[in-house]
Amino acid sequence: MLINITTLPGDGIGPEVTEQAVHVLHVIADGFGHQLKVTEKNIGGAALVASNDPLPPDTIQSCLASGAVLLGAVGGPAFDSYPAKLRPEAGLLRLRSELDVFANLRPAICLEGLESLSPLRAEIVRGTDVLIVRELLGGLYFGERSTKGDSGRRRAVDTMAYSEAEIERIARVAFELARHRKNKLTSVDKANVLDSSRLWREVVNRVSREFPEVQLSHMYVDSAAMALVSRPTQFDVILTENMFGDILSDQAGAVVGSLGLLPSASIGGKVGLYEPIHGSAPDIAGQGIANPLGAILSAAMLLRHSFQLEVEAASIEAAVREVLAEGHRSRDLAAKGQRTVTTSEMGELVSGRVRERIQTPAN
Ligand code: IPM
Ligand code: MG
Repeated sequence: MLINITTLPGDGIGPEVTEQAVHVLHVIADGFGHQLKVTEKNIGGAALVASNDPLPPDTIQSCLASGAVLLGAVGGPAFDSYPAKLRPEAGLLRLRSELDVFANLRPAICLEGLESLSPLRAEIVRGTDVLIVRELLGGLYFGERSTKGDSGRRRAVDTMAYSEAEIERIARVAFELARHRKNKLTSVDKANVLDSSRLWREVVNRVSREFPEVQLSHMYVDSAAMALVSRPTQFDVILTENMFGDILSDQAGAVVGSLGLLPSASIGGKVGLYEPIHGSAPDIAGQGIANPLGAILSAAMLLRHSFQLEVEAASIEAAVREVLAEGHRSRDLAAKGQRTVTTSEMGELVSGRVRERIQTPAN
């Protein structure tokens, strides 16, 4: 099969971690007899520096002509003072909307034996396996916004809007995913205060009739935040709007140990977009100490969701589990005084395990 992807390494640790993920994809392609074609393009701050546009036209073209897009990260302190439209983040938001990827999947799993990575007690975090399904193209991120008035008396407004159609399509994705997991869906909203949440709840209830086998419950976002740290194992699939999903997914990352481990897939549109959720981490960029596992696991999601290569995806995930089980730790995962591996060492370890698994498929 032709695995034709565009990579957007972006800013901060984006390029370092993306390099390792591409490395693993090459090993997969070689081992399974696929052809990997990688086109690298600019996004975010890197694109701003090169062409004063956080999402240049040739980047969009390349993404739309690919089977999938693998992104590193965008943003950094150098661009904090840029006007809103010229911020690196604006490039990412535009890319999501150009690709029309309204469904953002963010799994957070506490791997067996790795409970100690979590700041929570092992008995609380053990067995956590939650999939956050975040609506990605609506709500506060894409609502009308403005800042008006004279200096000192300005007033800024963001709007949180959702249509029934937008809620319906993301709800269907979440129910479908729940059907292939533990049949449990928690829809998170703020229906005790917000109109957009009341509509959200109503539409989710309506869609649930199409999925009688899925057990649906509703939770307010504040209480969901609390439950996610106090009893994370109660969740299977969490369905929520854009901003709540942004916040809860970082929290879920912390619950299972490190944001550095978490991949994401943005799907439902023309071309799937895959990115680790950790962001650009400018404080550690360029030092070779970033954790590439979020990017590598994103590459696995890319193979699964955009190319239907389940065996290949699972072999990457198994390799990552093996490497972690053997005790290899990037700096974000290490306990005090524990030996750590660099970004490229971690990538090489995973690549090595993938190669071994291909050579002895019974594993
Ligand atoms: C994420 C990030 C982005 C978001 C930023 C970089 C715009 O935090 O993917 O979670 O808020 O969606
Ligand atoms: Mg975020």
